[in-house]
Amino acid sequence: MTKSERKRFMVMLGPPGAGKGTQAVKVAKRYLIPHISTGDIFRAAIKEGTELGRKAKQYLDSGELVPDSVVTDIVAERIKKNDCAPGFLLDGFPRTLPQAEVLDTILRDNGCPLTAVINLTVDREALVKRLTARRTCSDCGENYNIMSKPPKKEGVCDKCGGKLYQRDDDKRETIENRLSVYENQTAPLVAYYQRSQRLVNISGEGAIEDVFGRICRAVG
Ligand code: AP5
Ligand code: MG
Repeated sequence: MTKSERKRFMVMLGPPGAGKGTQAVKVAKRYLIPHISTGDIFRAAIKEGTELGRKAKQYLDSGELVPDSVVTDIVAERIKKNDCAPGFLLDGFPRTLPQAEVLDTILRDNGCPLTAVINLTVDREALVKRLTARRTCSDCGENYNIMSKPPKKEGVCDKCGGKLYQRDDDKRETIENRLSVYENQTAPLVAYYQRSQRLVNISGEGAIEDVFGRICRAVG
């Protein structure tokens, strides 16, 4: 990270299923910054069977949060990399007040304050519907939805031909727990960022392209 005025250090906030991953891919491409998803980092580690994956698996499977110290170390290392010089878009981090405070400290120490926190809002019933219908490519990670964004050929990724799967934490009971964990541990971040005037509330309802248009207009 280095100082500059046109850099974008952004966070995508919102409950499970709000469309953070879907929109983050598009926003990162638009502003030429890396998309850093802590959930994707954990799922990749679990797939590769690394020490981190072994530690994280029980939390992801139950919908609980991975301990703050584990997550903050990973993010601190990741945002030091050269590709983060023009900025970054964090997806799924921070998720607790201690994580937000660590991020603020790192950014302040580097003279790069957060540019915007994009808070995607979606009605709870719609979240459950989206998550139960989500399918993900096991090779490239592309997201689909059997209701709103189906692949051209059932079970096959349009982009790379990889096999689509349903995330283990997209089972009904785990979804309910993830939504409660969000309410109890992550929702307080909305007030935290609002107090420092970094929050941009965006409705995550409607077509994916419409949500993207709203984000672009809001962050400039
Ligand atoms: P993570 O992977 O971050 O999961 P999440 O927050 O539960 O969010 P999701 O990825 O489920 O939803 P999303 O908002 O990205 O929506 P998406 O774009 O896919 O975290 C997983 C786990 O990792 C956590 O439970 C925790 O254990 C651990 N973890 C991660 N970060 C952590 C942290 N910082 N601290 C501690 N633990 C951490 O969209 C959902 C579906 O809806 C898709 O099918 C999509 O196609 C569809 N869709 C998207 N937009 C629309 C639209 N506008 N209209 C209709 N459908 C849409
Ligand atoms: Mg996601």
